[in-house]
Amino acid sequence: MIYCDELVKIYQADQVKVMALQGLDLEIKEGEMVAIIGKSGSGKSTLLNMIGGLETPSAGRLLIEGKDLSGNAWKNKDSYRKNTIGFVWQKPSRNLFSYLTVLDNVKAPMLFAGKKQKESKEKAMELLKQVGMDHYANKFPGQLSGGEQQRVAIAVALANDPLILLADEPTGAVDTKTSNQIFSLLQRLNREMGLTILIVTHDMSIADKVSRTVMISDGKISTEKIRRGLVDTEKIRQGQVDTEKIRRGQVDTEKICWAEVGEEKAEEYSVLDKARRVQLTEDILEAAGITTNKVKVEVIDGKVVITGEQES
Ligand SMILES: Nc1ncnc2c1ncn2[C@@H]1O[C@H](COP(=O)(O)OP(=O)(O)OP(=O)(O)O)[C@@H](O)[C@H]1O
Ligand SMILES: [Mg+2]
Repeated sequence: MIYCDELVKIYQADQVKVMALQGLDLEIKEGEMVAIIGKSGSGKSTLLNMIGGLETPSAGRLLIEGKDLSGNAWKNKDSYRKNTIGFVWQKPSRNLFSYLTVLDNVKAPMLFAGKKQKESKEKAMELLKQVGMDHYANKFPGQLSGGEQQRVAIAVALANDPLILLADEPTGAVDTKTSNQIFSLLQRLNREMGLTILIVTHDMSIADKVSRTVMISDGKISTEKIRRGLVDTEKIRQGQVDTEKIRRGQVDTEKICWAEVGEEKAEEYSVLDKARRVQLTEDILEAAGITTNKVKVEVIDGKVVITGEQES
C-alpha cells in the first residue's frame, strides 16, 4: 500500500537547509496499523505529510498502491488527497470548521467531492454513529470536549472512504482515558473496515498496543518493534481464540493481531538499510558502555558482536 524508497526531504529555511528525511525506507501493507514514534524533529510529520500528498519528496521514491507520488509529474494529487487519504491532526481546531455544526463538518468533504446533499447527510450520520457522536450532530465544535472533537475529526477523515488514515498525534491534546478511547476507535476501524492506519504518537502505552511500531531517528527508520503476541480482544471475548495456545506459540497470531495477550512475545528489531547500516540508539550505546565513535565488529558463535574501543 505504501512504499518509501530512500525518501529524502530537504527544507530550505533562511539560507539553512534542513534534511528532515534522510533516505527513509518503509513498506506498509494494506490493512496494517502502524505506530510511528521518534524524538521531536525526527521527521514524523514530514513523512505523514508526504504520504498525505501535502509535501513533495526532494529525492527518493514514494509509491502509494503502486502510483508514484514523487516529483511533480503526478497530476491527480488533489483527487488523491480527497479520496485516498484521511487526515487527523493533533489540534482538534485544525480538523474541524468552528462555524459549522458537527453534521456539516462531516458532510463538508463529501460535498467538496461532489456528492449530493441527501447522500452526504445519510453517510455523515452513519459515520457519526460509528464514532459514537451522532447525538451531537447539531452542536458546534466549540461546544464539545477535545476528545469528542477528535472523534468527530475521525468521522470527517473517513467521509470519502479513504484507503489510508493518517493521524498525527491525534491524542496529543487529550487526557489518558480519552486518548485510550480514541485509540480503541481507530483500532476498531482498522479491524472492521480493514483501513490502513499510520499513527504518530508520543504515547508509549499506545505505541505498545499496535502490532508494529517504527521508530524514526534523524530522518530514517532506526528500529521496528513487531508484536506477534497481540491478539484481537474481541475474538478472545467471544471465545474464538485459545489464549493458552497463543502463549505456547501454536497459533499464527500474525493473522489475528491486536490486544494484550502475550506481550512478552514482543520482539524488537533494528532495521538494516540498503547499505547494510544499522543504527545504535543512545540507550544501547549507554547500556553497552560505548563512548567513542569506533567499535569492533566481530562474528562470534554466529552472532555479530559490537565492542566499544578500548581506551588506553
Ligand atoms: N516547513 C518547514 N520548513 C523548514 N523546516 C521544516 C519544515 N517542516 C519541518 N521542518 C524541519 O524538519 C525537521 C523534521 O520536522 P518534523 O515536523 O517532521 O518533525 P516531527 O518528528 O514531526 O517533530 P514533532 O514530534 O515535534 O512533531 C525538523 O528539524 C523541522 O524543524
Ligand atoms: Mg510532528
